[in-house]
Amino acid sequence: MISVSVPGRVNLIGDHTDYTGGLVLPMPLDQYTTITGTTTDEPTWHLRSADEDLPVTIALPVIDPSVIEPRWGRYVAGVLSELHVLGHPVSGFRGTVTTTLPIGGGLSSSAALEIAVARIALSDTSHNLSATDLALLCQRAEHRACGVPCGIMDQLCIASGKPGSATLIDCHALSVTHIVIPEDLEVIVQFISQRTLLGSEYADRVADCHEIEKLVGPLRLATDDDLGQINNPRLHRRARHVISENQRVRDFAQAIIAMDYESAGEFMQQSHWSLAKDYETSNEIMDQAVQQLLTDPTVLGARITGGGFGGCIVGLRRRKDS
Ligand code: GLA
Repeated sequence: MISVSVPGRVNLIGDHTDYTGGLVLPMPLDQYTTITGTTTDEPTWHLRSADEDLPVTIALPVIDPSVIEPRWGRYVAGVLSELHVLGHPVSGFRGTVTTTLPIGGGLSSSAALEIAVARIALSDTSHNLSATDLALLCQRAEHRACGVPCGIMDQLCIASGKPGSATLIDCHALSVTHIVIPEDLEVIVQFISQRTLLGSEYADRVADCHEIEKLVGPLRLATDDDLGQINNPRLHRRARHVISENQRVRDFAQAIIAMDYESAGEFMQQSHWSLAKDYETSNEIMDQAVQQLLTDPTVLGARITGGGFGGCIVGLRRRKDS
């Protein structure tokens, strides 16, 4: 019997910056997706999920993960297909998936499933996949299986994260710096509403960024001075978000290290309104939830987290007993 548990992640700050090679600061959660089962001699993967009506049966090797039904199996098939492309032998497997993460809740339940599948599939081989290689493999799997052009944040945070620390990721260099969240701070995560990035405006935002980069070059290197070259008002606002958000990640990380919690909270506020007004990935329900959380005087800052269009909000609070 093999069992693998993989955490979800919450992003403290730095949203919609990863797919232009910018900065992000997510942290692994203590909510997990677990796969338990046994390898078999059959050339198939058979998984049941406690949260899905139908099980999935995937014949090996997987050539096209995007046609697998039911759809949740595509994340599994995507990873198995990428392992096949890399020449990693994959045994048959029969098992079950359970999760304490909200599915489609913006806490990377899909990336957690992908990494868990990869760890199970690689558990009986001697492999030399680093955390970064594993994350890249799972990112490619998600692109191919589900067509969502996601960045590297979720998979790399989950593959390389440490409990209690945030992962400052430079999504161009793919470097990770662990930043301990001080004991007197509490990270609050509230699930507000279901969402899916599939068919959402996520891909439109990625396309907007490509358009901007045709005008000003790499967004990760852009500054406010470059905004003058962007005449289209929508692209101007999108660029303003990305440029300012990259700076806020740096500033927030510095504020946490310096234990300047008021400033850290302020950067989260600025991030939320930048996402809401310039990037347009929030909505009224999420804005209200953020404002509601801020009515608690111990809350330093709050924002929508992850891909947006629903999902979760994240807040930072001084612990009452500190
Ligand atoms: C989703 C994607 C990530 C990232 C966030 C927004 O979670 O999977 O790659 O782009 O949205 O920051």
